[in-house]
Amino acid sequence: MAVLLAGGAGFIGTHTAVEFLNAGYDVVIADNLYNSKSAAVRRVEEITGRSVAFYEIDVCDKDALRKLFSEQSIEAVVHFAGMKAVGESVAKPLQYYSNNLGTTIALLTVMKEFGCRCIVFSSSATVYGKSNPVPLFETMPRGECTNPYGWTKWMNEQIIMDACTADPELSGVLLRYFNPIGAHESGRIGEDPQGIPNNIFPFITQVAVGRRPQLTIFGDDYDTPDGTGIRDYIHVVDLAKGHVAAVPYAKKHPGAKVINIGTGKGTSVFEMVNTFERVNGVKIPYVIGERRPGDLPESYANADEAEKLLGWHAEKTLEDMCRDGYRWQTLNPMGYGG
Ligand code: UFG
Repeated sequence: MAVLLAGGAGFIGTHTAVEFLNAGYDVVIADNLYNSKSAAVRRVEEITGRSVAFYEIDVCDKDALRKLFSEQSIEAVVHFAGMKAVGESVAKPLQYYSNNLGTTIALLTVMKEFGCRCIVFSSSATVYGKSNPVPLFETMPRGECTNPYGWTKWMNEQIIMDACTADPELSGVLLRYFNPIGAHESGRIGEDPQGIPNNIFPFITQVAVGRRPQLTIFGDDYDTPDGTGIRDYIHVVDLAKGHVAAVPYAKKHPGAKVINIGTGKGTSVFEMVNTFERVNGVKIPYVIGERRPGDLPESYANADEAEKLLGWHAEKTLEDMCRDGYRWQTLNPMGYGG
């Protein structure tokens, strides 16, 4: 029996593949390589000494999924297959809705045909919207998203919840990620964004290796202790382990369940920059810029539910995240292309 990682060749998928393989599962990856590289899958094999069945297919393609399910014995699906750039989603909403909802519908359809009853979905803290106070609890109402990417997370949650209501044997675990950063400690896999990074951490690592001259901090006048935005950064390896814990839980508990995957701790942009500089002995030149439209002052999780239901909690520190992310970028200054 194997776990299918749909969209598994990307940043979070490859780290999750390593953790499933280390936990003794067989792993199948389906990915169209739209925003990822097959080299990353080979590195997963190198790190673990295990082989991965890789299907270069579009996860929206039901016939391609049917072929995969007929060739592999899939006990659970972990669904990462989606486009993820907030700004791009505003420019290309139809592509985002078509792809990100299409992958979910195709997976649920083909899973049902083949009797696979377990899906873990990569959702996002963005579904909490702007109005909830921190810390964010799973019981809080979902809010208004500010971009099509966020809405696709919101709608995919709804699709999976509705599918679970209609089919009492189906399990859906909706993992709401906070801010995944860092890299595997081997330095062989890590985040490799296309073009200018949208997110702060890959921007910092690219400044650290000289690929970019400086960081722009998006506002220092928020109502937070040092004026910069606060987020719940979580090491990608901890996040990956959350998926491994979610599969046995899902197998025992039909129905839909929402679980935050964060540390429960907020870190400001200044704290992030200072920690990165201290741990790695590098300077990160920065300027203060305007606030980025749509940004929240603060976002961090209450992470109790993950501990209670999955027996999972984050173990790695901000220092680990900074050290491991820098190691990946230093060893691979141009990502998988370098
Ligand atoms: N920031 C900067 N400079 C940058 C980039 C970001 O100062 O160049 C700041 C932001 O203003 C924010 C913090 O760094 O305060 C984190 O920003 P990121 O872009 O790294 O992360 P976000 O919290 O904005 O976005 C993340 C995910 C989204 C998800 C969102 C809400 O990337 O996919 O969390 O859950 F939708």
